[in-house]
Amino acid sequence: MKNFITIEGCDGVGKTFQTNLLKQYCKENGIDNVVFTREPGGSYIAEQIRDIILDAKNSGMDDMCEAFLYASSRIQHLHDIVKPALEQGKVVFCDRFVHSSYAYQGVGRGLGYEKIKSLNELAVGEYMPEFTIFLDLSPEKAFERKGGADKTDRLENVDNSFHVKVYQGYKRVIAENPEKFVVIDASGTVEQTQQKLREVLRQKGVLK
Ligand code: TYD
Repeated sequence: MKNFITIEGCDGVGKTFQTNLLKQYCKENGIDNVVFTREPGGSYIAEQIRDIILDAKNSGMDDMCEAFLYASSRIQHLHDIVKPALEQGKVVFCDRFVHSSYAYQGVGRGLGYEKIKSLNELAVGEYMPEFTIFLDLSPEKAFERKGGADKTDRLENVDNSFHVKVYQGYKRVIAENPEKFVVIDASGTVEQTQQKLREVLRQKGVLK
């Protein structure tokens, strides 16, 4: 879908930080035809689904239940935020989208890449991103950067082998759709990664 751009990466890569820097840059430079949003959540109902998914008390959640909750949150977020913004001619940047589910639920949780892909294709229909920016950092470095796991967050309460699988999941999606991905090396400083990100967006004609 034209003007729909998603940003992906493993936990600890600095994805949310980079997205916020980009948002700030747009604001300071009077670029106002952009909308920044994120998953899971991003709208009133979708945020409530996010709270259920991330709550540390829900450790008994079945993996497939989790996958459906992500897909449900995604449908609602598309309805509330993404579709209206695209219809108004805005460029939408979404922090995480279907490829997070392919990598985290399909491969990380081992539910099956193809199964999770089908579920999400059903959920989003034609609303697939125009392209996706993948901030690339090895899971080991990402874990170091985060300073270890946050025990209050159910999803971070898993060992690093989970994150290694997630990373492999992303590599599979990228290998299958190289023309739809821009891979940015995120191992440098925050400023270096931000410069690369803006450069890509200039090349794509999104930023002047
Ligand atoms: P969040 O705190 O938003 O992390 P981040 O800043 O890294 O995006 O938590 C989102 C978590 O949810 C993150 O660990 C990835 C996970 N997730 C999935 O497992 N599947 C999904 O489809 C999505 C969107 C996120």
